Parts: sequence; C-alpha cells; structure tokens
Amino acid sequence: MIEKPKYENMGDLAFPCFTLAKIYRNSPQDIALELKQKIKIPELFEHVEAVNGYVNAFLSKSTVSTTIVNEIINKKESYGDLNIGNNQVMTFDFSSPNIAKPFSMGHLRSTVIGNALALIAEKCGYKAVRINHLGDWGTQFGKLITAYKKWGDERNVKDNPIKELLKLYILFHEKAEQNELLNDQGREWFKRLEDGDPEALHLWSWFREESLKEFSKVYDLLGVKFDSFDGEAFYNDKMDKVVELLEEKHLLKESEGAKIVETDGNLPPCLIQKKDGTTLYATRDLAAAIYRREKYHFAKSIYVVGHEQSLHFNELPTEVSLFKRVKSVVQR
Ligand code: ARG
Repeated sequence: MIEKPKYENMGDLAFPCFTLAKIYRNSPQDIALELKQKIKIPELFEHVEAVNGYVNAFLSKSTVSTTIVNEIINKKESYGDLNIGNNQVMTFDFSSPNIAKPFSMGHLRSTVIGNALALIAEKCGYKAVRINHLGDWGTQFGKLITAYKKWGDERNVKDNPIKELLKLYILFHEKAEQNELLNDQGREWFKRLEDGDPEALHLWSWFREESLKEFSKVYDLLGVKFDSFDGEAFYNDKMDKVVELLEEKHLLKESEGAKIVETDGNLPPCLIQKKDGTTLYATRDLAAAIYRREKYHFAKSIYVVGHEQSLHFNELPTEVSLFKRVKSVVQR
C-alpha cells in the first residue's frame, strides 16, 4: 500500500491510512499520528511525519548514498545484475539496413534501441544474440547488376559505394520507363544470381562488401557489434523447408500460379512463392525464424523494426513462424 508522494516535501515514501479508518473506527489523521509514534525508524530513514492521513517517510540521504555507492564500488560492472534469464538465449534482429542503399534514420533508430534492449537482456541474465538481417536479396539486385554493367564504373563505386550504387539504381528506373526490355534484363540477372551464376555472384558480393564497410563506420562509432550478418540472401537455400512446412499444415494455396497463405482478418494474403518460383521477403523471414529457433534455441526472439514493417510481420503465418501478431515492443 506504500505510495510515492507527488511532491518532494512530502517525503520519499507515503503510507495512506484512509482504508484503515473503517477497520479501526478512527479518523485517518489519528491513525497516521498513532503509527508515526509507534514506528521504530529504520536506519535508512531520517524521520517520519503524519500529515493529512498519510505517514510520510523521509530517507536519510547520506545513509542511502553511502550504501549505494559502496555497493557500486564493490560490485563494479555487475552492480544491478538480475538473474531472471538463467542464461537462456534471446535473439535480437535489429539495424538490418539494405545494401547498396543509404543507412537511414530509421536504421539508426533500430540500431540504438536494439542494442540497448540486448544490453538490458544481458544485464538480466540472458544470452543476447545480435543479428543484422541485411536486406541483401531480391529482384532489385538484378536491376543493379544490369545498371552497373551498362553504365557503372569500378573506380567510382570503390570511392563512393552507396552513393554510386544508388545513382545507378535510380538511373535504371528512369531508363526502364522508356525501355521495358531493361526490366526483363533485370529479372534475368536476378534469376542468374539466384542460380549461382559466378559473374552475378561476384558483383553482388562486391556490392555487399562495400556496403558493409560503409555501415560498419556507424557501428564502430556507436560501439555496436553483431554476432551475425546473415541477411536475406543467407536464407536463399533454406526456402524449401518453409514451403514444406506450410504444405504440411495445409496452409498453402495456389493463386494465379503463385503460392500464398491466406491470413485471417482483414489483411491481404501473404505471398510465399511467385509464379516463376522465386521467393519473397516474407518467405525469407519465415526461413530466418525457423533457422534461428533451430540454431539458437531462443527463449525469446525480438525484432526491432520500423512501423512500416507491421503489415509484413502481421501477415506472416503464425503457425509456422512462431510469430505472434506483432506487438511492437517499440513503436514509433
Ligand atoms: N531491411 C529492412 C528495412 O530496411 C528491415 C529488416 C527487418 N528485419 C527483418 N527480419 N525483416 O526496412
């Protein structure tokens, strides 16, 4: 029943006597006075007062500060440790920028919040696994390869990777408006990339490396380290399992040649596999969730993402992915 008083001059802790009035058939004011007289004041407190039906207690600042400072000095960095995690694993998917694109304010936000949550988890006795789920796969990389081969320059990309690659990507879209063929070429290069064509893979991994070098500047400044940079591409060969699992659970439906999972409620269906057999962002996230469960045996799996990702996470079939409907831990 102890409360924290609203105002400093009312002490550090307050005990309201109002509910006792009925029981003792006495006014709260009198009960407070009586309590004040009977209380043996513990060492941590300086004095108590009875005011308007409250017993207000004032901490002894010097005793409290000496006790706490001593504890901090003795326990050093383990001060405040809590062992509620019992060394269980918590995975943190955070930061997760897209390669060949600028690191945005949103990624910065996810980086600092994600890392702070991981530190708190560690303080609470969990083992934190920090995962950077890089956006490094998708048709856009077919387009980027096409653009680089047509208009790119190695030196420029080396000097200013993100800026140059973004420029090429934008140029691709401008030109593709007049020339439909370009889109076909982009798709073709992505298909080659998915099939492991050496030239496509070489360019892609170079773009990825250069981007990571850029992102690392931010991580170094912030002192943030990751246990894994396995992003979307990493799950490319782990998709069959997702499709199998969804089929096993009779969740997969055909729709215009594509494979989808219908969602409950008012959400659009979740697209799992396109007509041409290529997979999507959602499929890769399902594969990642399954992979992480098997690899880390996590007790909890946390995602720190922007608000614009809520539809994506809400659409994912919960039966397979372990995803509860997203309750954004940290909303914008
Ligand atoms: N790459 C995405 C973006 O930049 C964020 C990825 C979040 N994590 C995930 N597992 N989907 O918007």
